[in-house]
Amino acid sequence: MSGAFGDFSRRLRPEVDAALERLLPAAQEDPRVLHQAMRYSVFAGGKRVRPALLVLAGETYGVPRELLLPGAAALEMVHTFSLVHDDLPALDDDALRRGRPTVHRQYDEATAVLVGDALLSLGLQTLMTEPATVAPESRLRAAALVAEAVGTRGMIGGQMADLEAENDWPAAPAAALEAIHRRKTGALLTAALRVGGAYGALDGGSDSLLTALGRCLGLMFQIGDDVLDVEGDSLTLGKTAGKDESARKLTYPSLHGLEASRRMLREARTEALDLVARLPASHDLFGSLVDYLCQRDR
Ligand code: IPE
Ligand code: IPE
Ligand code: MG
Ligand code: MG
Ligand code: MG
Repeated sequence: MSGAFGDFSRRLRPEVDAALERLLPAAQEDPRVLHQAMRYSVFAGGKRVRPALLVLAGETYGVPRELLLPGAAALEMVHTFSLVHDDLPALDDDALRRGRPTVHRQYDEATAVLVGDALLSLGLQTLMTEPATVAPESRLRAAALVAEAVGTRGMIGGQMADLEAENDWPAAPAAALEAIHRRKTGALLTAALRVGGAYGALDGGSDSLLTALGRCLGLMFQIGDDVLDVEGDSLTLGKTAGKDESARKLTYPSLHGLEASRRMLREARTEALDLVARLPASHDLFGSLVDYLCQRDR
């Protein structure tokens, strides 16, 4: 990761990991295999993009970092849940994640199902209970935003539509594909920004701005993921490249081609930068984030 956002992310990472370390049950606590497997998936070297978005949005609206870290860690748990389940044989059937064997390969399928359940539950619990110094209404709002983003109108609904579109492409595939991406990936990225703001006294206009920005960044993130699946290599990605084609997934490159996918990414970049210009501060960090989403190699 290069640029101002890369520096920000690198410096933030140990703080997010320290919060995760504190919040996750110890590997020695029973049931040990379950707690070890939760830690195996969370500490495998993800990019921590969602925690960075949450902290960036919160700090933009004046929230102190220490109040944002538990929520950032919670969001990473919820995201990791989505990855562990996404990799299961019944979904994408992947063997490699974050540079390691997937949880169901390293442990077994039952453990991977329970790891996902446990990370979702602990993530939501954390949002409802931490930090104790934040007003209960803000914690409730944060938890509700994430629960909604994960649910059937968000990530889980998007995952279902993604699976249904395998082999049997829907009618009006372009619109269907955009909707899939906005749900399976965009919803949680949008929640990251809105939750960061929810810890401050955010007015409705600012929440709408963060929502619009999140929608745009979320679509960019998944178009980039689709392009990397075609162009990237497994070692750099830490996951199996070329999986989408072999699984006959409906993706931006499979529907529109690589060149048009890259053009759509650039169009979304312009829209994102217009929204970034309306934020009260941290323009350069958000601008750098937008550029990172266009150039990332993993
Ligand atoms: C992968 O997310 C799944 C998608 C939503 C595209 P990331 O690319 O953020 O994965 P990690 O967290 O870095 O492993
Ligand atoms: C999954 O999208 C998004 C999630 C909700 C996890 P992908 O299936 O393309 O994610 P990767 O490529 O396996 O990380
Ligand atoms: Mg998938
Ligand atoms: Mg997948
Ligand atoms: Mg992918």
